[in-house]
Amino acid sequence: MAKFSQSLDRWNSRFSTPNYLFGTKVNHYLSSQKDRLDIGKALAIADGEGRNSVWLAQQGIAVDAFDFSPVAVEKANQLARENRVSVHFSCSDWQSFVWPKSTYDYVVGIFFQFADPQDRAEIFARMDQSLKSGGLVIIQGYSEKQLEYNTGGPGVLENLYTEDLLRSAFAGYQIIDSRTYEQEIEEGDGHAGMSALVGFVAQKP
Ligand SMILES: C[S@@+](CC[C@H](N)C(=O)[O-])C[C@H]1O[C@@H](n2cnc3c(N)ncnc32)[C@H](O)[C@@H]1O
Repeated sequence: MAKFSQSLDRWNSRFSTPNYLFGTKVNHYLSSQKDRLDIGKALAIADGEGRNSVWLAQQGIAVDAFDFSPVAVEKANQLARENRVSVHFSCSDWQSFVWPKSTYDYVVGIFFQFADPQDRAEIFARMDQSLKSGGLVIIQGYSEKQLEYNTGGPGVLENLYTEDLLRSAFAGYQIIDSRTYEQEIEEGDGHAGMSALVGFVAQKP
């Protein structure tokens, strides 16, 4: 519990700036998947200051989003208001969030590599449980090579992704897109510079 509150304090303090730590523009990998999105219902997990959930809502999707930082959630609500879209934000950690069963057409997880392998397995299982059959899981994270760049991310090898890790977490899903790549990203001060990334989209059977 002490570890958890230290982590919450750290995130609240990182988000306590007038600017948006990860910017207000949607994550590039998520927007590159635009053609796969139709209207429907999405869950944006550990959504931070709302850049991704707001963009999803702008696509006409009904969006639920959660994050455990009240500072981030307040900024996310502000971003939604400024963009005149509605997002149902919950201030909750992933452990206490009530993940609805078989509800979402899209479950979107962009940079939630605070999770160590044990927590990550549990989060993946909850993402799977909340997706409808035929729904898409969309994930962006850093690959192991990101330790060489150090331009964002947890800086802990075991929290980083490989495509194989994601493919086995979602075994039985149809892989729609799976890529390991390097790209210069500009996502506020939080993620800036050349980065080693993994993008993954898969469809639940
Ligand atoms: C790297 S940020 C990414 C935020 C957002 N997905 C984005 O791409 O802009 C990681 C987020 O995870 C949230 N977070 C960390 N631990 C969490 C937990 N136990 N439950 C829910 N959210 C958590 C942080 O508050 C932070 O917003």
